[in-house]
Amino acid sequence: MTAPAAGAGGSGSGDSSARSAHSPAGGGSASPVLQVRGAALTRPDGGGRELWSGLDLDVHAGEFIAVLGPSGSGKTTLLRSILGLQELSAGEIRIEGAVATRGNPRIGYIPQQRPYPADTAMRARDVVALGLQGRRFGLPLPQRGQHERVDAMLAEVGAAHYGDRRVGTLSGGEQQRLRVGQALMDRPALLLCDEPLSNLDLANQQGVTEIIDRQRRDHGAAVLFVTHDINPILGRVDRILYIAGGRFMLGTPDEVLQTRVLTDLYGAPVFVLRAGDRLIVVGVPDVEPHHDHGPEHGSVA
Ligand SMILES: Nc1ncnc2c1ncn2[C@@H]1O[C@H](COP(=O)(O)OP(=O)(O)OP(=O)(O)O)[C@@H](O)[C@H]1O
Ligand SMILES: [Mg+2]
Repeated sequence: MTAPAAGAGGSGSGDSSARSAHSPAGGGSASPVLQVRGAALTRPDGGGRELWSGLDLDVHAGEFIAVLGPSGSGKTTLLRSILGLQELSAGEIRIEGAVATRGNPRIGYIPQQRPYPADTAMRARDVVALGLQGRRFGLPLPQRGQHERVDAMLAEVGAAHYGDRRVGTLSGGEQQRLRVGQALMDRPALLLCDEPLSNLDLANQQGVTEIIDRQRRDHGAAVLFVTHDINPILGRVDRILYIAGGRFMLGTPDEVLQTRVLTDLYGAPVFVLRAGDRLIVVGVPDVEPHHDHGPEHGSVA
């Protein structure tokens, strides 16, 4: 496990390059899909607040990494840095060996959810089609095969029966399946998921989790999955990156989700409790500006 790191201090060697037990690629020599080295982000417009620093992370093909941390700890900002949308204040991020730049077609992105306005004119299939390489960047594409690919993806994410509906009339769970389909359209090497389960009922949480997990199992995608609740994905996660108060912790769920470890990370008493097969974290200090994440916020890992 990587020790908690603060300020410019490094994160230690730990197991940050450990291969996934589920990796379909096998062997230990393949280079990581995502490589983060000494990354730091200070918000010049936030009074110089440092979100995180000294961040080292290797994610290999087929690996499933959960990113946890309180609201405002910089989880979305980390994903935006990987997408090349947010400049680091130090360090480097590489995707398949190349420095991260915006518009990388090898990355699929499921942004933090905002419902489509009710009067959105796009149909469900148009949302998925936006994930086709080229469409995203406004370039015309040859039409051949495109319709079939979109149909196949609609079926893959369980959205075939509402493919022609206006997206604004769909439920949150239905819309979310389309966002997932859009992100998977080009079979990305790296899949960035920003709270893809928020506001979904249990059935949709399980459905969306299974679709994402299938990408790493069947297609070898490396998955970075931001969540406020570890429980729906606990059985699938290889490692957890836990960010809090400018510090972070990297390790297996068993290593990170411990009373002693999180107390150390937060610098305040935090308790990890087991309720049946669920993990509950109690006593998380409100160190970051609070945003509403629904009834479960603050009650789960
Ligand atoms: N464009 C921006 N300009 C200035 N500050 C920003 C900007 N975007 C985010 N921030 C600030 O950076 C910090 C980290 O934001 P970020 O969205 O990465 O947090 P998060 O961990 O994803 O939180 P949440 O769990 O609420 O989604 C917050 O304090 C936020 O207010
Ligand atoms: Mg966020």
